[in-house]
Amino acid sequence: MGTAVTGIPVREGAQRKPIHLAAHFPGVNHNTVWSDPAARSQVEFDSFTYLARAAERARFDFFFLAEGLRLREHLGRIHDLDVVGRPDTFTVLAGLAAVTDRLGLAGTINTTFNEPFDVARQFATLDHLSDGRAAWNMVTSSDAFTGANFRRGGFLDHADRYQRADEFVTVAREFWDGWGRGDVVHRGPGFDVRGAAPLPRSPQGHPVLLQAGDSGEGRDFAAGRADAIFTRHGTLESGRAFYVDVKARAAGRGRNPEHLKVFPGAAAVVGDTPEEAADLARHIRRRQVGPQTALNFLEQVWGRSLQGFDPDGPLPDVEPVFDTRVVQGRVQHADPRAVVATYRERAEARGLSIRELVIELNTRPQFVGTPEQVADEIDTFIQADAADGFILVPHLTPTGLDAVFDRVVPILQERGAFRAEYEGDTLREHLGLPVPRLEDAARRTG
Ligand SMILES: Cc1cc2nc3c(=O)[nH]c(=O)nc-3n(C[C@H](O)[C@H](O)[C@H](O)COP(=O)(O)O)c2cc1C
Repeated sequence: MGTAVTGIPVREGAQRKPIHLAAHFPGVNHNTVWSDPAARSQVEFDSFTYLARAAERARFDFFFLAEGLRLREHLGRIHDLDVVGRPDTFTVLAGLAAVTDRLGLAGTINTTFNEPFDVARQFATLDHLSDGRAAWNMVTSSDAFTGANFRRGGFLDHADRYQRADEFVTVAREFWDGWGRGDVVHRGPGFDVRGAAPLPRSPQGHPVLLQAGDSGEGRDFAAGRADAIFTRHGTLESGRAFYVDVKARAAGRGRNPEHLKVFPGAAAVVGDTPEEAADLARHIRRRQVGPQTALNFLEQVWGRSLQGFDPDGPLPDVEPVFDTRVVQGRVQHADPRAVVATYRERAEARGLSIRELVIELNTRPQFVGTPEQVADEIDTFIQADAADGFILVPHLTPTGLDAVFDRVVPILQERGAFRAEYEGDTLREHLGLPVPRLEDAARRTG
C-alpha cells in the first residue's frame, strides 16, 4: 500500500481493486431538481432508456431503481418530492432488459409487504429475460402508513423486520434452487409455504443481492445474506469505518469479505475548472432545497406547520410537537426537541438561515471538480478501501450523469482503472461475484 496525501493508505499496483459504478435513476429523492427546465419525465420509458443506454455505453456495472410503496404525504398532501408518481420496478426493469445487453438491472423490493414466492419468481424471470443481469436491493421499511397500501398496516414490529427479511430470503433461495427437486417446503415463524419452484435456475443462480439499511441488524443481515451494500457512508472517513465493519461481519460469518461489495451513494458535479464545479455544486444545492422544500423539511422535525416563517430568515422560534400525521411514510424523530436544539445551536453559531441550514443538513457525499479531479477522487476512495464502487445519484432526470459518462469515465478507462469493455455477460461477472452453488442449497425436507 502507498499513502495518499491525506495519510490514508491506498492500494497500489497489483493490490489495486477494480472500480464498480452504478447509475441511480433519480426517481424520488432529495437530489432531484424537478423545477429545472431540462428535467424530463420520471415515468415515461424514454427517460429510463436514456439513462440505461448511456450507462451501458459507459460500461457501468448496473442501473439502480429505488422504491417507495406509498407516495409520502406532508400536511395531508402528497409530498412535493412524490408528486410525479412512482412506476412499478419489475415492469421498468423488464422493459430495460429489452433495450440493453450487458448492464445489470437492480430493483429495490421490500421484504415486509411482499411474498417470497412472488419476489423469487419475479427476479428469476428478470434474470432469465436479461440473460443474468438481475439484482435485488432488499429493504425492510415497515411503517404502518406504507402497510396500509397492503391492508396490513403496521403488522410487523420494527424490531422483527430483519428476522422476516432473513426468512424471506431463505424461502426465495429455496425457490431459486428448487427446480426439479420436488416441492419447496418451508415452515417457519413468518412463512408456511409449500409448492414447486416456478422456473428453472436462472443464469446467475440467484440475482445479485444488495441490502440498504444501516442498523446493526441491517449490517448483520447484509453480512450474512447480501452480495453488496448500498450505504450513505460516503465520506473517506465514514466510508472506511463502515467498510471495515461490514467486511469483518461477513468474515465472522465464514464468508469471503471480497464477496460483499460496498457501494456508497454519491453525487458528482463536473466543471471545466475547480471553481466552476464548486459554483455549479452550490447552484445545484440551492435548486435542490428551494424555499418551500426547506420549510417542509423543518416541518417534519417540528411536527407542525411552519408556513409563514421566512425560509431566508432565522429558525422558527416556536417549539416542536410530536405529531405523526404531519409526515407520512418518512422517518420520524423520536425526540424532536433534542433535534431542534442541535439545529438551533448550529444555525446560531454560524448565522444560518432556515434554507442554509437545511442545505447543510442535506448535503450528501459528492465529488466536485474537474473531470480529472473527480476521476482521481473516485479511484482514491476505492483504493483507500472506503468503497468498492459507487451508486451515482444525479440531480437531473435522465441526463444528470452525462458529464460523468462523457468526461470522467474515459479518464478512468485510459488509466486502466475502469473497464473499457465488459469482460463478462452477467452482473455477477461484472462484480466478480461467484454464482451460488446448488450444492450449498438447503436440502428439501419434504
Ligand atoms: C442507502 C439507503 C437506501 C435506501 N433505499 C430505500 C428504498 O429505495 N426504499 C425503501 O423502502 N427503503 C430504502 N432504504 C431503507 C431501508 O430499507 C431500511 O428500511 C431503513 O434503512 C431502516 O433500516 P435500518 O434500521 O437497518 O437502517 C434505504 C436505506 C439506505 C441506508
